[in-house]
Amino acid sequence: MAVRKIIIDTDPGQDDAVAILLALASDELDVLGLSIVAGNVGLHHTTRNAAMICELAQRPDLPIFAGCAAPLARPLVTAEHVHGKTGLDGVALPEPQMPLQDRHAVDFIIETLRAEPVGTITLCALGPLSNLASAFQRAPDIAARVAQIVLMGGAYSAGGNVTPCAEFNIFVDPEAAATVLACGAPIVMMPLDLTHQALTSKARVAAFRDLGTAAGHAVASWTSFFDRYDARKYGQDGAPLHDPCVIAYLLQPELFSGRDINVMVETQSPLTLGMTVADWWGATKRPTNVTFMTGLDAEGFFELLTERIARF
Ligand code: BDR
Ligand code: CA
Repeated sequence: MAVRKIIIDTDPGQDDAVAILLALASDELDVLGLSIVAGNVGLHHTTRNAAMICELAQRPDLPIFAGCAAPLARPLVTAEHVHGKTGLDGVALPEPQMPLQDRHAVDFIIETLRAEPVGTITLCALGPLSNLASAFQRAPDIAARVAQIVLMGGAYSAGGNVTPCAEFNIFVDPEAAATVLACGAPIVMMPLDLTHQALTSKARVAAFRDLGTAAGHAVASWTSFFDRYDARKYGQDGAPLHDPCVIAYLLQPELFSGRDINVMVETQSPLTLGMTVADWWGATKRPTNVTFMTGLDAEGFFELLTERIARF
């Protein structure tokens, strides 16, 4: 497999952290940088968390760019009740020493897409889409240069996780999500329908802990931390490991199945704000803009994840 250049746009978050570790453990991926956005917690915490994760992965050289501190058109909504006060509660990590880059994340995205050959950069979006949408709005030429956008967000038959209809990443910045879905670049979407199959279980968490490494311990502790919330909420053993699905797709796309459909985002209605209206049955004549994933080989996913985390 040729090495694929990626930018990870993220709001870490424990499941973002696992996704970043998965990417950094994988030779098939060349992570050019992390562009950070506010989401699970405020930007101050998400940038600090990103640095902690890079240092845990022994990658203090990886460029981290702080980005949008708020959604395009509304106040920030955060999720400390899921991710804890810092967004990365669950394990104590040392205060990070690595510096942040001076450039804004949106400039980094624009300049990288313009500098690299057309069709060579994949954008992996793990949080609200404020950075990506700002980049497309400011530099409309870059959309045609993107190889692919793989994003975690949205929901169809699974219903929402922050309102009855809306998934968190899309709900936080629905205008940004609408901009990205209309940008014209190839998009693969990992909605809750898919990520709710990537469930941690006691055995899967134990497999991470049994690695006996700092990374294995962190992954086990992070997943156990948000388990306490999700397991209660969904009434099952374990919690969905949303964001690592994005990276796993780049490594083993055969673990995933879905359909090319049209998806639009509700940006007006107070009742259904942030809903991803997925035209699964082709009821409209709207053009397809997304590959909407709904099927996951969960055993294969956790095998891949455990094998890669073991590399640290
Ligand atoms: C998404 O929201 C966040 O809580 C997670 O990190 C994930 O990106 C799931 O709805
Ligand atoms: Ca996230």
